[in-house]
Amino acid sequence: MKKIILALAGLGIVFGAVAANANPEADRMKIVNYLEHRNPDVKFDNYVYGALAFDADAKSQYDSIMDFPPFIGVIEQGEKMWNTPFKNGKTYAECMPNGGKMIAGNYPVYDEKLGKVVTFEDLINDCRVKNGEAAYSYSDMKTMGVLTSYARTLSDGMKMNIKVDGPSAQKAFDDGKMTFYKRTGQLNFSCANCHLDNATNHLRSEILSPVLGQAVHFPVFRGGENLVTLQNRFVGCFKQVRQVPDKEGSTRYNNLEYFLSYVSNGLPLKASVFRK
Ligand code: HEC
Repeated sequence: MKKIILALAGLGIVFGAVAANANPEADRMKIVNYLEHRNPDVKFDNYVYGALAFDADAKSQYDSIMDFPPFIGVIEQGEKMWNTPFKNGKTYAECMPNGGKMIAGNYPVYDEKLGKVVTFEDLINDCRVKNGEAAYSYSDMKTMGVLTSYARTLSDGMKMNIKVDGPSAQKAFDDGKMTFYKRTGQLNFSCANCHLDNATNHLRSEILSPVLGQAVHFPVFRGGENLVTLQNRFVGCFKQVRQVPDKEGSTRYNNLEYFLSYVSNGLPLKASVFRK
């Protein structure tokens, strides 16, 4: 831990307080423009590669791993889960909009009736419950993790398309934005400190990925076999700054996912990729 604190001390912090601003598109463009200004050679679409877009060696390693992914068996297991009917004979595909294809980029959505953000994982659980099955725990990699490692690939190529309509949705978005920009934890770091101010800089041996593109490629397989969902990653990053993390699926994390996904609007989805 000492090492991390020293490494953190080396990161210069630029961004200050959160400006009040009820315009998601302006928030998104501010981030996009800032990153494009700082990295004029990186094409918009290449932000899907995260830190890899800034490290040619790591990117070519990624390319060769993705040719024959060592985790393909896990995705196939997820496919089996997806295709196995519930006890009542119905399937996920019958329960979801468009048979579950090319929809993940619409999630999270703000559901006015429920008065909250609904994630793709919530949609899966909604199907399960409506069909008489028990909901999965968002944090259980063997069930929700494996299932989404396949289910999300059904939306590969779709562009992220998150909507923030109306005052309640705006409130959830603002809450997610606050979590992103607010300094927290014993080390007093915000997500933005690392993934915006210091994006593309090194933290120890790692290049920090820009927030733009972070939400389009989950779940990931870290080190080739360790399945990690997006909110799982939130837990890990909260721990890095010595903040007590929430459980996956908390209102705070769902709102954060809503904000983070909106920032990546227009970028193509590609689930289940390799990460270091
Ligand atoms: C002290 C710095 C630090 C802070 C603060 C931090 N992270 Fe991270 N984060 C990292 C590092 C290091 C990695 C691994 C390298 C990378 O891909 O950026 C990472 C990775 C990630 C990834 C995976 C990126 C990918 O392409 O696989 C996501 C998503 C993420 N962080 C989100 C967040 C969010 C949301 C917050 C705020 C709750 C946050 N991080 C706070 C250091 C940080």
